[in-house]
Amino acid sequence: MNKHTKRVYETLIVLFCFLVFAFFYVKNDTEKAKNDMPKIGVLQLMSHPALDEINRGLDDTLKKNGYIDGKNIKIEFQNAQGDQSNLRTISKQFVEDNVDVAVGIATPSVQSLKSATSNIPIVMGAVTDPKGFGIIPSNTKPGGNITGVSDQAPIDQQLSLIKQIMPNTKTIGIIYTSSDMSATTEAKRMQKLAEKQNLKVNVKTINSINDLDQIATDLSQNVDAIYVPTDNTIASGMQLLSKIASQNNVPVFPAATTMVKDGGLATVGISQYELGQKTGEDVIKILKGKKPGDMPVTFIKNGHLILNEKQAKKLNIQFPDSLVNKAEKKGQVIK
Ligand code: TRP
Repeated sequence: MNKHTKRVYETLIVLFCFLVFAFFYVKNDTEKAKNDMPKIGVLQLMSHPALDEINRGLDDTLKKNGYIDGKNIKIEFQNAQGDQSNLRTISKQFVEDNVDVAVGIATPSVQSLKSATSNIPIVMGAVTDPKGFGIIPSNTKPGGNITGVSDQAPIDQQLSLIKQIMPNTKTIGIIYTSSDMSATTEAKRMQKLAEKQNLKVNVKTINSINDLDQIATDLSQNVDAIYVPTDNTIASGMQLLSKIASQNNVPVFPAATTMVKDGGLATVGISQYELGQKTGEDVIKILKGKKPGDMPVTFIKNGHLILNEKQAKKLNIQFPDSLVNKAEKKGQVIK
């Protein structure tokens, strides 16, 4: 081998070593960056259109603000399928993974996260009455590691909508799941308000979705209209409830707009998507260093009027023109 060839070989070897080194250096660096990315754990109680909308609003808000999953944040989404032991396992997993922020969608998710950690920040994605449920000591100054968004419904507007659409209503039926804190609170609020306005109220509870058929059939035979609060179980069984009530010619007025899309007649409800957006905004504030304890719970005041004309036709109900105009301009009419 002459001198020249030797030099070429030497240069090639040095170059090769350099490339190998550079490759591992860069690889290591991106892996490190991946491990350094803020982690967000999202725990959704179960799938129903309202909770799915909340999660969509959360995702979109993070994206819009430049937080891209897999690029500069890691989102770990888990659905507990309505199961208590799943809630516990996933909450523990989030703590083990040392997530930077945990989001609980619906009350049971937040309760489960709360019992798993008292220092990781938790954002409530739609808990109707956080203080009333004992989750935080104050809605304005939560103090600890939890803040978020309430989905409390504009019940007074919902009741006046029922009276506007069905002026001859004498008896309102209310149906909810006894173990659902959010539904129980909202049902009681509605009952109180309706009785104050001299309506008769017939309240029925179910223990699980398996009871819905029979209890809803009973109730439909004894009332003029049915009101359903923000009930996680019934939100997933809305089509069945609507079918049973329709067979008895009784309209269902639900608390959430998503439940009107699933066969309810009408409501004035807050946007579930907006709840998710506000949840996302809270997550971002915390990622930027704000303390949940200093962030008041967000309540959404603006309701949207939504009318289901398909359902109205089935029930032979005519919406007042003024209402249809209003819904067409500012809300939604399902045709
Ligand atoms: N408020 C419910 C809870 O605290 C969750 C929820 C949000 C919900 N929006 C809903 C339930 C609409 C039924 C329908 O658990």
